[in-house]
Amino acid sequence: MPVKNRLAEMHTEITGWRRHLHQNPELMYEVHETAAFVAARLKEFGVTDITTGVGKTGVIAAIEGKTNTSGRTIGLRADMDALPIPEASGVDYASKTPGVMHACGHDGHTAMLLGAAKYLAETRNFDGRAVLIFQPAEEGGAGGKAMCDDGLMDRWGIQEVYGLHNMPGLPVGEFAIRPGALMASSDEFEITVTGKGGHAAAPHDAIDTTLVASQIVVSLHSIVSRNVDPVKRMVLTVGTFETDSTASNVIAHTARLQGTVRTLDPEYREQAEGWVRRVVENTAAAYGATAEVKWSPGYPVTVNDAASTDHAVEAARAVAAKVDAETAPIMPSEDFAYMLEERPGAYIFLGNGDTQMCHHPAYVFDDDAIPLGCSWFAELVERRMPAA
Ligand code: NI
Repeated sequence: MPVKNRLAEMHTEITGWRRHLHQNPELMYEVHETAAFVAARLKEFGVTDITTGVGKTGVIAAIEGKTNTSGRTIGLRADMDALPIPEASGVDYASKTPGVMHACGHDGHTAMLLGAAKYLAETRNFDGRAVLIFQPAEEGGAGGKAMCDDGLMDRWGIQEVYGLHNMPGLPVGEFAIRPGALMASSDEFEITVTGKGGHAAAPHDAIDTTLVASQIVVSLHSIVSRNVDPVKRMVLTVGTFETDSTASNVIAHTARLQGTVRTLDPEYREQAEGWVRRVVENTAAAYGATAEVKWSPGYPVTVNDAASTDHAVEAARAVAAKVDAETAPIMPSEDFAYMLEERPGAYIFLGNGDTQMCHHPAYVFDDDAIPLGCSWFAELVERRMPAA
């Protein structure tokens, strides 16, 4: 039996929690009912060390093994928040909140970590301490950072940290992971270009902001092609382009561009802001215009520690028939990256089968993946802190 027998027995119960959470999705930091549900279940399992309100609405549960001679503490993390997407999945347990949906499977992640909590609290078959992290606001609110800023790693003495995400397209029963960069950073920029508005027939009396901003867009696209080593990964996209001109015979005075830079290389991430500023400011100056760049850092690169990845692979191989230990990285970003900046650890993908991609209104979390995810969490604890 690859998955843990006890967790296979709990499959129906955990599925029930998952569907309850699915029907009652909450956004960002407003996961009050979800956090209360998590804390109530943990109490039922006999977990005594529960802390709520970490990183605003996060929940932490510490579970001691039968012994703790190892002095080791392993963190396991699940995200709890949903998305502002009207559900079109067609399931009979669909969201009861209009316009809000668990379209990324965080209901599944939370339920699976609860399942692991129940198992670990019952068995305590390890030598050390497991810290279960239920975080808010993964979807753009940097809840992982909020928990770290609230002292997560030091207050609970976490030495290694692990998390998982369901993956549509990967068969149920399989895991995928890689050491090093797994998911990209995501930073945003906003550029305001100021020229000199005027009459379309008198460009010599104006500074054509539309032309300047267009040159800026073209020049920005030289950053990835001319600054980044071709075998490394970075993408820059200008997503919006607006000017204040509303007529065909008016030269715009200002323009606003918004875009994003994503990369799998933390060093390029550091340099990207400087590259963008240099190109934007100097291109504007070349035309006698001015430009300002507002840079908004988003999630860092999700970087798996090599040794922790090995531990994650071993635990996955214990519960699943197939584990891809060298999967290709992907360009979405993930705020577990903040936890991985503070401690070594690893993030793994759990097969969700042939479903719509995450964030699609018809996405469905596959409950058949539950025993695998729960068992992976439990295996990590038992393997990293073997019973004395
Ligand atoms: Ni997600």
